[in-house]
Amino acid sequence: MNRRYRKTIIAGNWKMNKTLSETRAFAEEIKAVIGKPKWCEVVLCVPFVNIPAAVRMFKECRIAIGAENCHYESAGAYTGEVTAEMLKEVGVKYVIIGHSERRQYYNETDSTVNKKVHAAIEAGLYPIVCVGESLEQRELGVTMELITYQVKAALSGVSADKMRHVVIAYEPIWAIGTGKTATAEQAAEVCEAIRAVIRKLYGARVARAVTIQYGGSMNAKNAAELLAQPDIDGGLIGGASLKVPDFMQIIESANQE
Ligand code: 13P
Repeated sequence: MNRRYRKTIIAGNWKMNKTLSETRAFAEEIKAVIGKPKWCEVVLCVPFVNIPAAVRMFKECRIAIGAENCHYESAGAYTGEVTAEMLKEVGVKYVIIGHSERRQYYNETDSTVNKKVHAAIEAGLYPIVCVGESLEQRELGVTMELITYQVKAALSGVSADKMRHVVIAYEPIWAIGTGKTATAEQAAEVCEAIRAVIRKLYGARVARAVTIQYGGSMNAKNAAELLAQPDIDGGLIGGASLKVPDFMQIIESANQE
C-alpha cells in the first residue's frame, strides 16, 4: 500500500453467493463490528438482484456496493443483461470487469472488457478491471507479456483523465478459489509490472495514483503480508469475503494508520 498517493480498496466479490436474507444477516453482523474504516475503502460486489437492498443495508457502515459485471451497450435486445447506467442509478459505485470466471465461462474477451470499461466510466462507475495468467501461462514464462497485453487492451482509448476512475485487480487464475495464494513476491512483482505499464501509457503521475489490488485466495492470514507490498493497494476477495470475521480481519490489515 502507499496511501500517500492512492486509495487502498478492500473489495469482496461474492460471485453467485448469498440470498437476500443471507445478505441481510451479513449486514447486521458486520455493522456491529466494523466501525468507520478510515484508511481504506470497503466494497462488496454482490449479485444483481440484491444490489438495491445492499446499497441501503450497507450505507450506514460506509460499505460501497459493486456489481460483478455489466453490459457494454447502453440499451437494447440483450436478454438477461444489465447496463452500467442501470447499476449507477440504483447506487452502485464499482463494477468488476473481465473477471477470469467471466472470461472462461461467458466468452468475455479483451475486446469486450475494453468496451465494458468505457461503458462503466461513461456511466460514472469505477471499473475494477481483472487481469491474470493461468498456471500454464505462468509455467511457460509468459506472465508479464500476457498481463501487459491484457492491461493495454483493457485500457485502450481510455484517457489519462479517466484513469482516476479505474482500479486494476491482478488475479492469477491458479490462485482463485484454490487456497493457493501467490507469494507476496510473486504478487508484488506483477503489480509493480502493471504500474510500469500504466506509467508507460500515461506517465508517472497517473501510474502513482492507480489502485492495484491483488486477488486469489487472499484471507485473514495472508492479507497483511500481501498488503505490505508497496504496489499492492488492496484486495479483491472471494471466499474470505463471505464470512464477517475473515473479511473483518482483512479490512483491519488494510486499515492500519
Ligand atoms: P478467492 O478469494 O475465493 O480465491 O476468489 C478470488 C476472486 O476471484 C475475487 O474476484
